[in-house]
Amino acid sequence: MAETQRLTRAVLTGLGTYLPARVVTNAEMAKRIDTSDEWIVERTGIRQRHFAAPHETAAFMGAEAGRAALTEAGLAPEALGAIIVATSTPDQAFPSTAVHIQAALVAFNAFGFDLSAACSGFVYALSVADAMLRAGQVKSVLVIGTEVYSRILNFADRGTCVLFGDGAGAVLLEAKEVPRTGPGLLSTHLHADGRLAEILYVDGAVGRKDHPGHLVMQGREVFRHAVTLLAGAVNEALAANSLSPADIDLLVPHQANRRIIDGVGKKLGLPPERVVVTVDRHANTSAASIPLALASAVADGRAAPGKLLLLEALGGGLTWGSALLRL
Ligand code: ACO
Repeated sequence: MAETQRLTRAVLTGLGTYLPARVVTNAEMAKRIDTSDEWIVERTGIRQRHFAAPHETAAFMGAEAGRAALTEAGLAPEALGAIIVATSTPDQAFPSTAVHIQAALVAFNAFGFDLSAACSGFVYALSVADAMLRAGQVKSVLVIGTEVYSRILNFADRGTCVLFGDGAGAVLLEAKEVPRTGPGLLSTHLHADGRLAEILYVDGAVGRKDHPGHLVMQGREVFRHAVTLLAGAVNEALAANSLSPADIDLLVPHQANRRIIDGVGKKLGLPPERVVVTVDRHANTSAASIPLALASAVADGRAAPGKLLLLEALGGGLTWGSALLRL
């Protein structure tokens, strides 16, 4: 009886990405600042990142990724219900990046808004989309993570400027009636602790002409919290779904640092082939990193229909969370 029961779930029907053409290697960074390929690879696993050209704004890249997701799903833009854009590098304070993307996609029946949760933005946006879809508010939501961190990096701070890159990723979620064992988002869990705002922030704002802002981070502090909080988030998702680590086909983590990714993978007892790593190629693209990592796992065949994926992220706020998704 329980197996035949159908329920409404947010099902992933399309996926799209965009990466700027310009690739900046660690060797190129070392020409600009006092660093080395060895230091960056050893501490972070990063080998290169993409940096946006002037026309590659958060809206431009998000629209490209969003268009690809709609095309893959075969959904006409006018049928789209909503656009949620996770970004902490919007082109303007307002209007939102989402409405620029709506115009670019000619998706005029969709409403849209931006969501700010730094590197956890994509997981936060998935959670909001999931609630709207299951409540029946809309039938489809385009969830986009798009970031141009190269515009907020302080190139005088070698401790942060080597860590980030630009890019965008998008998923189309559609409300579908599925069996309990079928595809879709099984759960999302979100957390925040504003007492830790001081360890990772941007020291300005789009609205401040004198100082648009640079990223500031106490790397060691963030690292220390990341491992503990992410392990907690992962266990919370498993417990809520009565699952064990062995049930997870693939961990799709936010890509901040190879050591953090490996640490969470180890805590779950997952072999390396069940943990997606793209930080070597993309660096930390904040809210865009999870959909970019997911696309990489689809391309290499590891993320296929029926697979159970655990997504997790932690970022400025601090904010953190998880999403359990069956493809
Ligand atoms: N090249 C060479 N040397 C460097 C560089 C660099 N790019 N950056 C720092 N160093 C030096 C420092 O000056 C320091 O030198 P000293 O010992 O002579 O003073 C030494 O390396 C060690 O510096 P630490 O900052 O202590 O290095 P650490 O081992 O902590 O690594 C890192 C730094 C990689 C940033 C690490 O702390 C980390 O990954 N933290 C987590 C970051 C993260 O996960 N962020 C996620 C969220 S991002 C978001 O939400 C927007």
